[in-house]
Amino acid sequence: MNLTNMMAFLVFPYLALTTFVVGHAYRYIVDPFFWNAKSSEFLEKKNLYPGITLFHWGILLTLLGHAGGLLIPQTLFDMVGIDGQAHLRVAYWSGLVVGAAAFVGSILLLWRRATVKRIQATTTLNDYVTLAGLVFVTGAGLFNVVFGHFYVLDTIAPWIRGIVFFQPNPELMSAVPLSYKIHILSAFALLGFSPFSRLVHIWSAPFTYLLRRHIVFRRRVADASVQYVD
Ligand code: HEM
Repeated sequence: MNLTNMMAFLVFPYLALTTFVVGHAYRYIVDPFFWNAKSSEFLEKKNLYPGITLFHWGILLTLLGHAGGLLIPQTLFDMVGIDGQAHLRVAYWSGLVVGAAAFVGSILLLWRRATVKRIQATTTLNDYVTLAGLVFVTGAGLFNVVFGHFYVLDTIAPWIRGIVFFQPNPELMSAVPLSYKIHILSAFALLGFSPFSRLVHIWSAPFTYLLRRHIVFRRRVADASVQYVD
């Protein structure tokens, strides 16, 4: 077995995933007051909206597409009449739209951080690394969608399932083109970095907001004409 391949596609993914899980748990316990997205909306709105909206729709749908397209085995798609070629066509067109949204959105967010004075003044090196990392990972993914055309369903897909279900087989990655390897390794590096950044906010999506009761902010003014009887 090739040592470089084993380090890159067996040791490194598990190192990144361990850091991801343990790091988030540790940070949640020791640093609860900084567990948030560090919103900058109150400092500047106009340039925030296009970038943040494009980016969030793009990245959330991209993550959903990766989970559905790579973690579900092709045999299950075959059973419902979606063969490998049809699967890849759907992946291509949907990946093009949502991947481009995530890529352009992350560039807009990085550009805002670097150029808008008030945002620049409150931006840390960690914020730049986070956004530059997102630009790189989404850019590399989009590059593969447009120029790659590699058949991933019997190489990368079973490899990532092996990692997730603890039956790793790094050999599956040996014939994969470099541009795909770069996308995968940079994505795992970003996962490992996530607990140390504002990306922790992903785990506190306010879903309960949809279910909670209304909060009444105005006090009901007593009507003097109404007689209250005990
Ligand atoms: C689970 C659903 C998510 C929710 C509810 C959410 C919510 C938010 C909110 C409220 C902000 C602050 C915007 C502001 O400045 O006012 C934000 C910023 C941010 N989010 Fe998310 N987010 C989610 C998922 C994600 C994901 C999956 C990623 C990336 C993998 C991500 C990356 C970012 C980044 C990098 C920023 C900072 C942008 C900047 O200020 O330059 N978010 N998010």
